[in-house]
Amino acid sequence: MTTSVRGVVAGGKDEPVSVTEVLVPDPGPGEALVRVQACGVCHTDLHYKRGGIGDDFPYLLGHEAAGVVETVGDGVTEVAPGDFVILNWRAVCGQCRACLRGRPWYCFNTHNARQKMTLADGTPLSAALGIGAFAEKTLVAAGQCTKVNPSIAPATAGLLGCGVMAGIGAAINTGGVGRGDSVAVIGCGGVGDAAVLGARLAGAKTIIAVDVDDRKLEWAKDFGATHTINSRNTDPVEGIRALTGGFGADVVIEAIGRPQTYEQAFYARDLAGVVVLVGVPTPEMKLELPLLEVFGRGGALKSSWYGDCLPSRDFPMLVDLHLQGRLPLEKFVSETIGIGDVEEAFTRMERGDVLRSVVVF
Ligand code: APR
Ligand code: ZN
Ligand code: ZN
Repeated sequence: MTTSVRGVVAGGKDEPVSVTEVLVPDPGPGEALVRVQACGVCHTDLHYKRGGIGDDFPYLLGHEAAGVVETVGDGVTEVAPGDFVILNWRAVCGQCRACLRGRPWYCFNTHNARQKMTLADGTPLSAALGIGAFAEKTLVAAGQCTKVNPSIAPATAGLLGCGVMAGIGAAINTGGVGRGDSVAVIGCGGVGDAAVLGARLAGAKTIIAVDVDDRKLEWAKDFGATHTINSRNTDPVEGIRALTGGFGADVVIEAIGRPQTYEQAFYARDLAGVVVLVGVPTPEMKLELPLLEVFGRGGALKSSWYGDCLPSRDFPMLVDLHLQGRLPLEKFVSETIGIGDVEEAFTRMERGDVLRSVVVF
C-alpha cells in the first residue's frame, strides 16, 4: 500500500521546485511513517535544487521537520503511533567504529528508510538528507524520529532538526563553551544566531557577533550577543581582540564556511582557544595558514558536524529548556508559509530577509 500526498520536488538542476503528487509506501521493518506538521527552509534544500549536493534528481526537499508518527513497521520500538517527534539525520547505528568507541554523535553509519518514496509514475525520489519533509507525510527510519515534549509549537521544534541544532551544538558540544568564556561568532544567519544562543545558554560572559549586515547584528543582540562588529567597517580580528583584553576570544565559531572568515576566526582566538567551523565550504575552497602559527597558538581547530549532536540526548533537553522559558527558539521562525511557497522562500533566504521560513501543514 502507498499513501498519496503533496510534496515539494526539485525535478532537475536549477529548475524551480514544484508541488507534486508523491507516493509514500507503508512503513517496512524499522521504518516509520510521519505526518509532517512543520518543516523549515534551509540552505541545504537550495543546494540540492542547484545540483550542489548530487545529481540524483528528482529530490524530495525538506529536512528541518517535526510531526506525529502515524504508523510504524515491524520491529520498531523507539517510537509508537501518536508520538510527537523531531526528525533527525543522525539515526545512530550503535555498531560503527564511532559508536563502538562511545562517540555516537559522530556515528559513521546512520540510516534512512530502505524503501523509496516515488512520483505518481513510480520514479524514485531522493529524499533530502534522507528525510524529504516538504510533504504531508514522509517515510523515515524509526531512528530518525526523536520523541520530544509535544507542548512545543511544531514550527519551532522542527528547526532543532538541522540548522538551529548545528549552531547551538557548535557552541555547547563542539566548542565546549563554559561559564565565563568569551565567544565570537562570525556570520549571524540562523546557524550563527543559534551559536550565539548556545553560548549564552552555556554561560559565556562575552559574546561578540560579527556580520556584514547591520540587520543581522540587531537580531544577534536579541539572541544574546553582548557586542557586535560590522566587519565591513571594522577589522573583525582587531575588533574581537579589543573586546577581549587584547587577547582574542576563548572560542570563535565560523558560521559561514569561507576561507577568509575562517582565517579571521583563526587569528581572533586567544592562545589555546578553540576555532569551530560549522559553516559548510564549497569544494573549490582552499585555506593557507602559516604552520608555525597553527602550532604556536595551540588549542584546537575543530569542525562541527550537525553540532556534534546526539538527537536522543539533545533534542528533548533543548525542547524542555525552551518550554521552561530558558531558550527562545521561537525567534528563529521569521514566517510561516504554505507548501506552495518554498520557491519564493528561497529568494527571501538568499536576500537575507529571514532567519527561517517554515512550511506548516
Ligand atoms: N563576514 C561576516 N559575515 C558574513 C560574511 C563575511 N564575509 N559573508 C556573509 N556573512 C553573513 C551573512 O550576512 C549572513 O548573516 O553570514 C551569514 C550567513 O547566514 P545565512 O546565509 O543565513 O546561513 P545560515 O543558515 O546561518 O548557515 C550558515 O552554516 O550550515 C551551514 O550551509 C550552512 O554554510 C552555511 C552556514
Ligand atoms: Zn554508528
Ligand atoms: Zn538544514
